[in-house]
Amino acid sequence: MGEIYLYQEVGSTNQVAEELIYHGAPHFSLVLADSQTAGKGREGRSWTTYPGKALAFSLILYPDPGLIGSAQLEMLSGLGALAVAEALRDHLGLNPEIKWPNDVLVDRKKVSGVLVDLNWSGSDLKGVVIGIGINVLRGSVPDFDLNFPASSLEELGGEEISRLDLLVNLLDSFLKWYPRLGSQTFITAWDAYLAFKGEPVRLVSSGRTVDQGRLMGISPEGSLIILSGTGAERQYRSGEIQLRLVDRS
Ligand code: BTN
Repeated sequence: MGEIYLYQEVGSTNQVAEELIYHGAPHFSLVLADSQTAGKGREGRSWTTYPGKALAFSLILYPDPGLIGSAQLEMLSGLGALAVAEALRDHLGLNPEIKWPNDVLVDRKKVSGVLVDLNWSGSDLKGVVIGIGINVLRGSVPDFDLNFPASSLEELGGEEISRLDLLVNLLDSFLKWYPRLGSQTFITAWDAYLAFKGEPVRLVSSGRTVDQGRLMGISPEGSLIILSGTGAERQYRSGEIQLRLVDRS
């Protein structure tokens, strides 16, 4: 690890991490806060973190441009989700799934989200911030700005949860997978947690359904593979695509 920056309360750990990049924080630094008053979610949503209830942190990375291309950068959010899922399974004995690309579900309810912010200066990548939020204890889920049914690990049966132990396990998993980002073993591990496999799903972009089909898996490039009703296979890169289970009722 690099340095550890620990706060009682911040606006957003991703925001703090971004500022720390410009102050020269070392590779793999961790920004951890007990509460966030202006936490950021994907697509402009908010992610509030109440004191004493959740895990909210950001990792600062400086990927080697010679080793990491744009496809791998897109997989970083999957890496965050994989580390969360592995920690929930191995440390808490839960049965997590990943709603591609990076939401972690338990019992089909969202318990964790990942937000990757790339910091560019022109065409130079200055640094990457991977922000992870986990709803650990009862009372951690805000009742606003949710895009999917959500719950906390405590409500879903993870017994006696220490936020610190969970964080340590998750970081172990993250550090293990980071050097393998984009490898076939990484894709296989990510795919093994994939939610809705074989089920009919809709892909939504800006509130509009852009495709519908059966979810087949994750391609070697990290794209989602959908099989349409006509038998055609289509692939989607993460971008701003959202995944929804088709309502069969
Ligand atoms: C999502 O919308 O699912 C992504 C949520 C990411 C939340 C985490 S909490 C720690 C880090 N700091 C932020 O402001 N956001 C991320």
